[in-house]
Amino acid sequence: MSQSRKLYVKSFGCQMNVYDSRRMADTLASHGYVETAAAEDADLIILNTCHIREKAAEKVYSELGRVRRLKQAAAANRRVLIAVAGCVAQAEGEEIIRRAPAVDLVFGPQSYHRLPMLLARAERDGRAVDTDFATEDKFAHLAPPSAAAIRARGACAFVTVQEGCDKFCTFCVVPYTRGAELSRPVQSIIAEIELLAKAGVREVTLIGQNVNAYHGMGPDGRPWSLARLLERAGVVPGIERLRYTTSHPHDMEDELIAAHRDLPKLMPQLHLPVQSGSDRILAAMNRSHTRADYLSLVERLRHACPALALTSDFIVGFPGESEDDFAATLSLVAEVGFSGAFSFKYSPRPGTPGAEMPEQIDEAVKSERLQRLQRTIDERQAAFNRSCLGRTFDVLFERPGRHSGQLVGRSPYLQPVQATAPASLIGDIAAVTITEIASNSLFGTLAAVGPRAAATRPAETVLVATGA
Ligand code: 5AD
Ligand code: SF4
Repeated sequence: MSQSRKLYVKSFGCQMNVYDSRRMADTLASHGYVETAAAEDADLIILNTCHIREKAAEKVYSELGRVRRLKQAAAANRRVLIAVAGCVAQAEGEEIIRRAPAVDLVFGPQSYHRLPMLLARAERDGRAVDTDFATEDKFAHLAPPSAAAIRARGACAFVTVQEGCDKFCTFCVVPYTRGAELSRPVQSIIAEIELLAKAGVREVTLIGQNVNAYHGMGPDGRPWSLARLLERAGVVPGIERLRYTTSHPHDMEDELIAAHRDLPKLMPQLHLPVQSGSDRILAAMNRSHTRADYLSLVERLRHACPALALTSDFIVGFPGESEDDFAATLSLVAEVGFSGAFSFKYSPRPGTPGAEMPEQIDEAVKSERLQRLQRTIDERQAAFNRSCLGRTFDVLFERPGRHSGQLVGRSPYLQPVQATAPASLIGDIAAVTITEIASNSLFGTLAAVGPRAAATRPAETVLVATGA
């Protein structure tokens, strides 16, 4: 393959796609591809797609229209390859090329490690499609990032530890597009975190579609839980903060709850999707937890970590959702007091049981419920942000702010915080006292510089054994 070709990757959807896009770029870097932020300069354009809701999938086709024009404009000078990766590729396969003939390459999330070979095939044969589920460990075959690439991406990094899902919620395409649950071995995850930390990463978010179902093989030859993995990740030199997402309430075991009490580097914020506050709808969604289960879980988590802030995902207008069911969702929001949440209108996904259910809800009803739910969530979020006024938080500064002399970082609760601070603090944690709140951002003044007190506590913490 010739040297120094340009690669443009655009990610849609979740953090896992962002992570995958980076790993694809890392792998292609060793084949002479340099990343560009300008699609019009690219020799290879990869759209890493999301299929979770209809709107997300449709965005891909409109983006394909744009990149097709770029390919045509460049045709006189060079050949531009267009690749569609991710969950739309997995779900639609060949159909994408039928609908968008400018596409050269279609491959699903399980094929990323085969990308150099697929590219060579597309160049040779004109086309390549690969939506097979891998039998080998794709993570072991993806090239690691260079130190320069890690530094360019900043002090916060995602690391995929688990992929796929066996839960089969009746609204969700993930078990079909990402396949069965698979956990990476502990040692390969820790090696990756060590590499990241050496190049300046201070915060790692362990990600997976069902991350708390993690059960990867440990160095002792036994499966490790997520709690154990977090404890191990926390002793990697340089790592100051840990997070994990996304969790299923059903897999929130005692040991993981205790980690929120015992691991000082684990941030006091948890994304715990509940989807609905109605037992009838939760059962129809095949969620394997009730409203009471969720509330009791929240209570145990808050008991373990009183400072914990919870965020969630909600779906409105699932088939059969009555006004009473929806009212139960609104009351759950009030009862839990989330610090923020994502809410979505139910989108029937082809091949999922929900799409076949009678009693599909009218679009207008869904829209009206979504508005009401979002208003309630926004009020809770504003109240949470107001409660931060006057408090001092450790902020991990990530980049320059909007105005000169300002930096932006994240609080332990993931809120963006702006403060006047020297650029040398980018990549460091400093204490900031919050002086002002504006919609979703906090503003503050620097209180002191240096790692937070909690992060210097001894790393060897005792975890309570799971009751399960
Ligand atoms: N329709 C609407 N929202 C969905 N989600 C997943 N599938 C659907 C769907 N078919 C939402 C859930 C999930 C989040 C990532 O996306 O709330 O937690
Ligand atoms: Fe989808 Fe999450 Fe349910 Fe798995 S647990 S099917 S990823 S919503």
